[in-house]
Amino acid sequence: MMISEKMNAAFNDQIKAEMFSSNLYLSMVAYFEEIGLKGFANWMRIQVQEENAHAMGLFDYLLERDGKVTIEAIEKPENEWACALDCFEAVYKHEQHVTSLINGLVDVAEQEKDRAAISFLQWYIKEQVEEEASVGGVLATLKLIGDDKKALLMLDKDLAARTFVAPVIG
Ligand code: FEO
Repeated sequence: MMISEKMNAAFNDQIKAEMFSSNLYLSMVAYFEEIGLKGFANWMRIQVQEENAHAMGLFDYLLERDGKVTIEAIEKPENEWACALDCFEAVYKHEQHVTSLINGLVDVAEQEKDRAAISFLQWYIKEQVEEEASVGGVLATLKLIGDDKKALLMLDKDLAARTFVAPVIG
């Protein structure tokens, strides 16, 4: 089934949003490197790879549907945060925003009666639950840590262990 114009445009918007997420997290990699939290920086590097995979999943799907991929300009992300907690508050807020964008994309698929897209997007719905949970977990630990530098360095060590596993999308 040929993808509708409206659905096609909504997919391109989401590709752009995932690429923005990638750049936002890349900006956070630089921030954590600057303040010497290498484990946090590693965690963010993996997050960048995840976002690139999310963008490419939508990109490849749109091509598979004979849609027209358009790469749009991406806004400049923020590059300053007050501390690790402040940064992760921003990540959590951003992921909640992405969840609402994915829900909006599914709304368009439903309006367009595009059952194939509805089915494909279930992966992204589930992924957002995981994204919010993993970010929420780090955020909760940071709140517990407060001003305890030793505990912060222990968390940094934990986050250094994160590795990238390429997701199988769709
Ligand atoms: Fe692509 Fe973090 O959502």
